Amino acid sequence: MAKVVLITGASSGLGLSTALHLHKIGYQVYGTSRNPEKNTITLPFPLIPLEITNNDSIDSCVALVLKKAGRLDVLINNAGVGITGPMEEIDLTAVSENFAINCFGPLQMAQAVLPKMREQSSGLIINITSIAGVMGLPFRGVYSSSKSAFSIMTESLRMEVKSFGIEVCSLAPGDYATDIASRRYHAPVIENSPYQRIYQENLDTMNKHVSDGNPPQEIAIAISKIIKKGKPAVHYQVGPFVQKLSKILKGILPNRIFEKLIMNHYKL
Ligand SMILES: NC(=O)c1ccc[n+]([C@@H]2O[C@H](COP(=O)([O-])OP(=O)(O)OC[C@H]3O[C@@H](n4cnc5c(N)ncnc54)[C@H](OP(=O)(O)O)[C@@H]3O)[C@@H](O)[C@H]2O)c1
Repeated sequence: MAKVVLITGASSGLGLSTALHLHKIGYQVYGTSRNPEKNTITLPFPLIPLEITNNDSIDSCVALVLKKAGRLDVLINNAGVGITGPMEEIDLTAVSENFAINCFGPLQMAQAVLPKMREQSSGLIINITSIAGVMGLPFRGVYSSSKSAFSIMTESLRMEVKSFGIEVCSLAPGDYATDIASRRYHAPVIENSPYQRIYQENLDTMNKHVSDGNPPQEIAIAISKIIKKGKPAVHYQVGPFVQKLSKILKGILPNRIFEKLIMNHYKL
């Protein structure tokens, strides 16, 4: 029987590529979008409504999948958004919204599917974090910390549910060529702000990194390998070599040297 996979944020980017790939290789895929009716391409899998910051929406989404499929083998917590801005100036409402989408909502998705997975004595939850969550990046402190918090939650949840036959892991992508940059919340570049020039320069660099990123299909293939594995590692990193290297360097270099490397890279 084909495994049932629910992937949040499957209307574009990494989620769409992954949903298409998993469908193609035989999984029973359910994707989500806040506005499935706005989708203009014909998809070979159903797109279910989901607003990840809304409890009722999460409950209805999971209930619908269980009603249609009768079980749920894999949850891929992929939906997420970017945010940029100087820590001194960034609006706390935007910070809170980002954590709600990147961290609290995905945790609640896990809470919603766990009772069924426990009943089945099996299940896999793959949390999409980010290599940007391994370190505090300048002008991306909120994004880095929301993904970092989600990565740590992954570790705790994984240990708590292991004895029920449920596996949990994170996959941290590096830069991938999706439209995420166009949907990011950008704190405005304020005229006469002490950060005006350097923040604008960094925004340009960040956007270029994403548009020059690797093809999203790489993530789809990495996820399919994790699903096939059965016993996944705690964390996976997938992306350009130099970005994966940054985690290793952070682990072995003295903090000040690592900080200097990051600051030089971002011209601070
Ligand atoms: N691209 C990269 O370089 C990169 C790197 C590291 C990590 N990531 C992570 O990978 C994941 C996918 O990113 P992507 O690059 O594929 O971005 P994307 O193309 O912008 O896709 C984001 C998806 O999230 C959904 N979404 C956004 N806000 C939502 C909300 N409030 N409730 C429910 N769904 C919501 C969107 O669906 P609708 O708009 O249809 O609702 C969309 O399908 C994110 O978690 C991102 O942080 C991406």
